[in-house]
Parts: sequence; structure tokens; C-alpha cells
Amino acid sequence: MRLGILGSGSGTNMQAILDGVADGSIPAEIALVMSDNPQGYILERAKKAGIPTALIDCRGFKSKYPEEAQAETAETLRAAGVDLVCLAGFMRLVKAPLLESFPERIINIHPALLPAFPGLQAWRQALEAGVPETGCTVHYVDGGMDTGPVILQGKVPVLAGDTPDSLHERILEQEHRIYPEAIRMVLARLGI
Ligand code: GAR
Repeated sequence: MRLGILGSGSGTNMQAILDGVADGSIPAEIALVMSDNPQGYILERAKKAGIPTALIDCRGFKSKYPEEAQAETAETLRAAGVDLVCLAGFMRLVKAPLLESFPERIINIHPALLPAFPGLQAWRQALEAGVPETGCTVHYVDGGMDTGPVILQGKVPVLAGDTPDSLHERILEQEHRIYPEAIRMVLARLGI
């Protein structure tokens, strides 16, 4: 089973998946790491681990993910023999044709207990809403903004005195626990 990972940022979730692959707890290999951000530390992490990387060219758009770019991404993932695509801090909305190239084979992690707080900076949204508990969710991607069937969630308490950063830090710890576990669940569903 070959995983393709897409990310835009520092890649700590990619690292957690990589660690799971390295210690044998995820029965798969990482075939390719792709990023729309040439400066994203996720690419450095992948290179250090000897994993092939590729850039996603979004034609200068800040947040849009143009259809041609999605088609190119699908082609690159296919050429690398990828079976399952894991979005790990990827900040663009995946739609056709990428979604159609990997039906039910694209999953995402989001830093909130979906359906609560979809979108950007979900930890900040939770803090501002004053909820006592938030968390993170791994789900199948269906073309909506952080929608799609839930695979696994992890809960995190909101503590008195939390700042956006302290809360995000605590959520990330849970993300690093549930993402490898969710991948194991998806692989088991696929009979692997
Ligand atoms: C993570 O908190 C992830 O859940 C979030 O970006 C961060 C990436 O961190 N993703 C989203 O908000 C997507 N809606 P990482 O690059 O260190 O894995």
C-alpha cells in the first residue's frame, strides 16, 4: 500500500505517519509527499527521510486550487503508484478531478470535532466560542469544506488560560495519535 501525503505547512502530522510507517505499525510506505508551499517544512522533513517530493503549482493563486493543478496532482500521485491520499495540513479545497481519481481514497485531518468549527484556525474558533471541549477529526474527503464521513475523533479539553497556541499544541498531540490510527483503520477496511 502506497501513501501520498499532501501538506502546506510544518508537516508534524506527516512526521507522525512517517514514524508509524517506520516502526511497522502502519502497514504501508510513503510513496510521495506533495506541497503547494515551496517553503513548507513538510518538504524538508520528507527529504530528510529520503521520501520523494513534488511541488503543486497553483498558478500563483493564494488559496484557489485550479482544476488543471488538481489534474496534475492526480497524475503525479498516480505515476507514483499512490493508493491512498492523506491530507496533512493541506490548505486548499480538493475537488474534481483529483477527488474523482481517488474515490473514497482521500482522507483529511481537521483540528476540531467536526461538524463543529470547519474552516481555518479551528482551535481559535473553539476558543472564541467558549466550548469546554474540542479536538480533532480524521474523515473521508467529499469535496466540501471539512465535510465527509468521520473515521476517528480525539477529544481535547479547553483549559482556563488557554491561548490559541496552547490549545492548538494540545490538539496537535491528539492529531499525531489519531491520524496513524485512522490510517490503520482505513487500510483494514481495504483488507490490508
Ligand atoms: C494541523 O492542525 C491540521 O489539523 C490543520 O493544520 C495543521 C497542520 O499541522 N489542518 C487544517 O486546519 C485543515 N482544515 P502540520 O503541518 O504540523 O501537520
